[in-house]
Amino acid sequence: MYGYALAALFGALTLGFSLQVPNESEGEGGGPLGPGPAWHGPVQPIARNEVFATGNGCAMCHAVASTAFAMRSPTGDDVSPHGLWQATMMANSFRDPYWRGTVAKEIAHKPGQAAEIQAVCVRCHAPMAHHTAALAGEPAATVAEMASDPLAQDGVSCTVCHKIEAENLGTEASFSGRPSIGRNRAIFGPFADPAAGPMQMHSGYEPQLGSHIQSSAHCATCHTLSTHYSLGKSTFPEQTPYLEWRNSQYSDENGRTEQSRTCQECHMPDMGTIKIARNPGGRDFLIQPRPFRAHAFTGGNAFMLDMLGEYREELGVSAPKEALGRMAMATRAQLADRTALVTVTKPERHGDQLEFAVQVENLTGHKFPTGYPARRAWLRVQVRAGNQLVFESGKYDETGRLTQVADELAIPHLSRIEKPEDVMVWEMVAADIDGQATTHLTSMASRLKDNRLLPKGWQATGPHTEKTAPLGTEGDADFVAGGDTVQFSVTLPEGTPTGLRILAWLHYQTIPPAWVESMRSIEADECKDFVRMYDASDKTPETIGIGQAFEE
Ligand code: HEC
Ligand code: HEC
Ligand code: HEC
Ligand code: HEC
Ligand code: HEC
Repeated sequence: MYGYALAALFGALTLGFSLQVPNESEGEGGGPLGPGPAWHGPVQPIARNEVFATGNGCAMCHAVASTAFAMRSPTGDDVSPHGLWQATMMANSFRDPYWRGTVAKEIAHKPGQAAEIQAVCVRCHAPMAHHTAALAGEPAATVAEMASDPLAQDGVSCTVCHKIEAENLGTEASFSGRPSIGRNRAIFGPFADPAAGPMQMHSGYEPQLGSHIQSSAHCATCHTLSTHYSLGKSTFPEQTPYLEWRNSQYSDENGRTEQSRTCQECHMPDMGTIKIARNPGGRDFLIQPRPFRAHAFTGGNAFMLDMLGEYREELGVSAPKEALGRMAMATRAQLADRTALVTVTKPERHGDQLEFAVQVENLTGHKFPTGYPARRAWLRVQVRAGNQLVFESGKYDETGRLTQVADELAIPHLSRIEKPEDVMVWEMVAADIDGQATTHLTSMASRLKDNRLLPKGWQATGPHTEKTAPLGTEGDADFVAGGDTVQFSVTLPEGTPTGLRILAWLHYQTIPPAWVESMRSIEADECKDFVRMYDASDKTPETIGIGQAFEE
């Protein structure tokens, strides 16, 4: 029988967490959960109830086998849904030691709200466990209780994404981790005519067309997050990639154009036409190849993928180390090739002043950086005379700190750089209710700075600008949709030879030291464990782009 005694549960599903958006509704309907359809398959997915199952059950047919060609690239690589997904950040959203540490940090900061904080944090990071409890009308379990629940450990799993219904997508009602999840065994996919028999027989799930799964609004359910800094109505837009995307040339919501790109089109690479499943016995099904997208979901967090690989056993990560390594490589390739372009203009010398500009163009479908508020990008610029360093701004040390700035949470936006202490950092900095910079997610009340690079096509008159308009860039005329230009005016020491070389790096960091600092004094094991892993990790920042120019 099912792992959860759900059939006997009746009643409205009300979840009155004070940290959540007012008028919280699960969108998951009320009333009893039925006994679920019967299935007779010899092999059953592990850890199933009538709504969710863990991904290893799906792997029976949606992972590669040595005896089948299905779900392999033309060069033979494993591009199967399960093979790729298992090594993504989403599959590991509950095992993520930074997430665990941060939940503990938030609780240490507001001990009286431990239950409410955990209930919010598991919504998107342990969605199957969260929705199972919500559908059953049960109170949410604590993170510690969930640690032994396979549904929690499986993170953002197959049956979460593939069970999200079309209802409310793209609206506030489905944001902040509140998609509507069907109380049935429907599995939505992009195809109208799946050969449903084998899957139904072996897993009890029924594959069917649900083209909403291909929409950006589908991803928006978890990738639009408002947090609550006080018990009450006020909310803070913590993560808004979807709202940023809507106000860009990539949106397809008002009709498709040549520039339109959905989240899936950038984050799930098009693999051509491949068989999407194989026989549980290991051979290919007698099914036709179909248009296929890879479940790679590459973002920018190569740093954490490395950590998951390094501490795989301790963290209970099930993906093989090689799969995590491949995902980290794909992430670094995306950061280097498809994230931003850096150009340096030809330098000009006026007396002892060297003038040039560094231009950064955002190639992503949202702000860069986007998503989790810790992310930051900065410019390191060197002026060199042969082997001699004449000027440098944006230096970092082995702990990942920017060594030329005094307070890493108080770096202003700049349009012109004149001295080494002027460091150009593109980031969002949030403030608490007293206006102090904070890294506590549940204390964020306003933004102090948000000069993250805007996507192409962004308009001041576009949608959601009350939540996403830049802040601190007023008066910087070359901070525009799609990028920013930084002017340099450097005083050269007397006798500097001509023929100078300018080198510019755009660096990126997902977990800057300032975000870990306040965890160091917290007693909770989750904080101690993360700090230990963090301190032992290589904190060399990612390189997004390099530009150079020469003085004639
Ligand atoms: C609405 C869904 C949602 C909720 C609720 C949510 N998160 Fe997240 N969280 C995300 C997404 C999506 C990301 C990834 C964004 C990115 O990579 O830029 C993320 C990333 C993170 C990260 C960064 C992980 C890393 O490895 O860099 C931490 C830490 C984190 N969340 C902590 C929390 C805490 C603590 C809570 C509860 C207060 C919480 N989250 C609630 C969706 C959510
Ligand atoms: C983050 C959400 C998400 C997760 C998690 C996810 N999928 Fe998908 N899946 C999608 C989307 C979106 C598509 C449609 C891609 C398209 O064609 O635009 C898709 C497509 C598919 C397809 C059709 C073939 C293809 O790849 O295009 C299969 C089969 C599939 N998924 C199985 C799975 C299995 C099995 C898992 C777990 C191992 C899984 N998915 C996890 C979002 C997800
Ligand atoms: C016994 C083998 C088997 C199992 C187990 C299985 N599937 Fe499938 N799946 C198939 C086959 C066969 C198809 C149809 C292939 C076709 O028609 O091209 C399919 C189709 C799909 C589709 C595409 C549906 C559409 O209409 O676009 C999705 C999504 C999917 N499966 C997800 C899953 C998920 C999630 C699981 C685990 C809960 C799972 N499958 C378990 C064999 C299986
Ligand atoms: C059920 C919630 C949920 C849904 C739906 C969802 N995501 Fe995520 N996503 C997350 C969480 C949580 C994380 C962060 C995990 C972590 O860092 O611990 C994340 C992380 C990511 C990342 C960052 C990976 C990195 O390396 O930084 C990308 C990219 C991403 N998701 C893309 C998508 C796309 C595309 C879709 C829609 C097809 C989607 N997500 C749907 C919850 C979700
Ligand atoms: C035009 C291509 C493109 C589109 C469209 C796009 N993205 Fe991205 N996205 C990228 C690239 C490139 C990166 C890597 C750079 C970075 O980390 O910001 C990225 C990174 C991310 C990250 C990880 C940020 C981090 O913490 O490192 C998340 C989360 C994400 N995208 C979500 C989305 C969602 C949700 C959508 C749809 C609303 C979307 N993306 C649409 C190209 C795109």
